[in-house]
Amino acid sequence: MRRLALDDHRNIILAGFMGTGKTTVGRRLAKRLGRTFLDTDRIIEERQGRTISEIFQSEGEEYFRALEKELCEEIVQQGNAVVATGGGLFLDRDNRRTMSRSGIILRLACTPEAALERIGSGRNRPKVADDPTARVKQLLAEREPMYASLPFQIDTTGCALDQVVDDIVHVLSNVGKRLNVIPVSLPDGGGYSIAVGDGILDLVGPMLRNRKFTSRVAVVADENVAKLHADTAMESLRNSGFEPSLCVMPPGEQSKSHEHLLRLYGRFLEIGLDRKGVVVAIGGGVIGDLAGFAAASYMRGVALVHCPTTLLAMVDSSVGGKTGVDLPQGKNLVGAFKQPVFVISDTGTLASLPPREVRMGMAEVIKHTVIDDADLFMRMERESEALKLTPELIRRSVAVKVRVVETDLFEAGRREVLNLGHTVGHALEQVSGYRIGHGDAVAIGLVAVARMSAKMELTSPEVSDRIETLLVRYGFPVRHNCDLNAITAAMTADKKTLAGRVRFVLVRDVGTVEPGLQVPQEIIREVLDELRDPGGAA
Ligand SMILES: NC(=O)c1ccc[n+]([C@@H]2O[C@H](COP(=O)([O-])OP(=O)(O)OC[C@H]3O[C@@H](n4cnc5c(N)ncnc54)[C@H](O)[C@@H]3O)[C@@H](O)[C@H]2O)c1
Repeated sequence: MRRLALDDHRNIILAGFMGTGKTTVGRRLAKRLGRTFLDTDRIIEERQGRTISEIFQSEGEEYFRALEKELCEEIVQQGNAVVATGGGLFLDRDNRRTMSRSGIILRLACTPEAALERIGSGRNRPKVADDPTARVKQLLAEREPMYASLPFQIDTTGCALDQVVDDIVHVLSNVGKRLNVIPVSLPDGGGYSIAVGDGILDLVGPMLRNRKFTSRVAVVADENVAKLHADTAMESLRNSGFEPSLCVMPPGEQSKSHEHLLRLYGRFLEIGLDRKGVVVAIGGGVIGDLAGFAAASYMRGVALVHCPTTLLAMVDSSVGGKTGVDLPQGKNLVGAFKQPVFVISDTGTLASLPPREVRMGMAEVIKHTVIDDADLFMRMERESEALKLTPELIRRSVAVKVRVVETDLFEAGRREVLNLGHTVGHALEQVSGYRIGHGDAVAIGLVAVARMSAKMELTSPEVSDRIETLLVRYGFPVRHNCDLNAITAAMTADKKTLAGRVRFVLVRDVGTVEPGLQVPQEIIREVLDELRDPGGAA
């Protein structure tokens, strides 16, 4: 037997529509790999002593879905299994998250005709039993965006069983072990996967190929990243049969301009990027935002893949779909929401990142722990040294942002919590003429809101002290030396201000925050004054 490059304990989970062969393939795969085989539909039937159709008839679909959900929680505790899942199990966002934590998910796909042939009369398939031909086509079309969001796709149409098993083993051997996948669900039922791992940039070719992209690929990077990391991606794309062209931009925020956007469109035309083309953005938030916006607008939109290479881009800018460019009047004033096909966060690329840039991202990591990961915050407090930038750290931080953006894709509500520390932070950046870097400004902003929260008795002074102590331990300045009037004026002028009122995200506890709150002017000034120090950032 070929040795499987997948950690032994992680489950292999087969997802997909009914009739794609999950049970048959799963059983054979489990036998080949010497693993336990689990079939969620069969387990539920055995436990209930009834068929799925009978459960649907007597208790209804909701009851069945609740049983599926419980079973997912159980399976996550178990490892070393091949799991065939019910066709609707992945419709539930929580199940997608739970199963992603449990192992690697592969989607088995086939044409509606092939599915129909395997389903036959549709007996014990309550969702299609009344009219299999019509219902299969309709359901498959409805569920396709969700299935397409799963990280690996294996087409079983017309394939012999052993061929499908070979294909799966091939995918697992080549990529399985290196990936942690965070699923992102979108309101249309679709979504995409964020793959996090060390040394996974070379998966960009196989992952695009696996999704049946065949056209031209524009790889966009800035000069620094082009020298360091573009070769890996270019080679991976070439090895997977693509014809990639490199589009190099100057480094720095000045590239997020209309001038550079036009240059990029011009380059896309030059290399023959058509409507079926793909833009692969490799780099920090600047390239992600610029190439992302170019992908959103060029020929009314082409596919986008993010390969973030800064900590900030991994945990923040590549997640959530915001793209855009600056105007002379301000940052990010023109943009679009553009969701990628997938994201590859190769933590190995962070080894070449200058320490200053690591700090910029670390401010966002700490911000995320305060928003919604008290456990990670406490780990960071406990460890005597700064946590290493491992895939696990990145995964945890990304997961916080994913949980927030999933509930508010277009920034109409809950997403506001991501501005924690940014109201004061943006003002400090501006007032200092951008001498205070974004990360440092956010760190001071975090301390400011923690103190405001304590003064307003939303949280305890102890919580505020803990946040400040952690930021100091991670090397952030927590004092400023800027003019108080200038800071408050900049906060009032911020584009996120509503009807002239400054609203803050405040801290209730580590891991719990509340958006949209106003703070009395005297408390704002008191805190900004407390944080003012002649040796502070300015
Ligand atoms: N879209 C969003 O949701 C979102 C969120 C936050 C920030 N942003 C945007 O992100 C931008 C800032 O992103 P950033 O901090 O990543 O800056 P950046 O993209 O300018 O990258 C910082 C520097 O690091 C270099 N670099 C990148 N990867 C490297 C690597 N692996 N090794 C060595 N050098 C490397 C770059 O060449 C650049 O000089 C801002 O424009 C901001 O508006 C967007």
